[in-house]
Amino acid sequence: MHTILEKRELGPSLKEYVVKAPLVARAARAGQFVVIRLHERGERIPLTLADWDAKAGTITLVVQEVGKTTRELGERFGVGDAIRDIAGPLGEPSEIKRYGTVICVAGGVGIAPVYPIARALRNAGNHVIGVAGARNQGLLFWLDRLEAVCNELIVATDDGSYGRKGLVTEPLAELLASRKVDRVWAIGPAVMMKFCSLTCKEAGVPVIVSLNPIMIDGTGMCGACRAEVDGQVRFACVDGPEFPGDKVNWDLLIARLAAYRDEEKCALERWLSALKEATR
Ligand SMILES: Cc1cc2nc3c(=O)[nH]c(=O)nc-3n(C[C@H](O)[C@H](O)[C@H](O)COP(=O)(O)OP(=O)(O)OC[C@H]3O[C@@H](n4cnc5c(N)ncnc54)[C@H](O)[C@@H]3O)c2cc1C
Ligand code: FES
Repeated sequence: MHTILEKRELGPSLKEYVVKAPLVARAARAGQFVVIRLHERGERIPLTLADWDAKAGTITLVVQEVGKTTRELGERFGVGDAIRDIAGPLGEPSEIKRYGTVICVAGGVGIAPVYPIARALRNAGNHVIGVAGARNQGLLFWLDRLEAVCNELIVATDDGSYGRKGLVTEPLAELLASRKVDRVWAIGPAVMMKFCSLTCKEAGVPVIVSLNPIMIDGTGMCGACRAEVDGQVRFACVDGPEFPGDKVNWDLLIARLAAYRDEEKCALERWLSALKEATR
């Protein structure tokens, strides 16, 4: 059992949790994730290790509420409640080296996974340029944390409510055209990672993305998280989640993400009606 020590609203349907998980915190590295199960009958969902404190034995998770399990966490679990299982750290850590100049692009909830990667890259001696974007100001979070670990930070919103107006691919393209950049990390929605990858490919700069396919066991056994990278089948949970973005078959990944939409809708509706019954 893993007690929730802190819970914070970061934006609409977006929350941060600090959870007791000493074994995970001790072994955590940038780029890795955990699979959690809220209770005995809960489904398993993957969440990135957004931060950790080995001394305090805690991990930080940032969760966007999109369906049954993430909403159940947000609505039914508070400080003092316990998450039944947390498995991890899982996945290969980010390859942190001294590359030179690195751009870390974060889209929406992607700010959470980018933060520890940018921090590790900075600690390794890189010049780190952060580019953070969201649909609007209300969906931006942790800009103070990003600013503390980046040498430079550019913020963009689709509607211009904060920072510059436009998509993150625009400052990315400008930076790639005006500076010598050695590597790019891009993490966020699949469509955003696809277009960042195309932008980097055109500029001839290596780009790393963190894939977010549906996962079940998180240990390479079920095959749910399979993706096509450079024409090969790869399992994001054990071979990734990071891969070279220019080698990913994005259309397949995006199609697979929508494969269970009807079942996901049904699970949410069933849970909401059971909740209504219970509170009647
Ligand atoms: C390695 C990894 C790390 C992740 N880290 C985080 C994180 O730090 N914070 C966070 O909020 N989410 C993260 N996700 C996504 C998260 O696991 C899903 O949002 C969650 O499983 C949805 O469960 P649900 O029951 O609430 O919604 P579901 O009912 O399963 O899905 C509802 C809708 O959410 C979308 N969705 C479902 N699964 C995913 C997915 N894997 N990626 C993108 N969209 C999805 C689909 O549109 C779907 O129709 C991560 C995914 C992976 C693979
Ligand atoms: S989640 Fe089952 S193989 Fe990756």
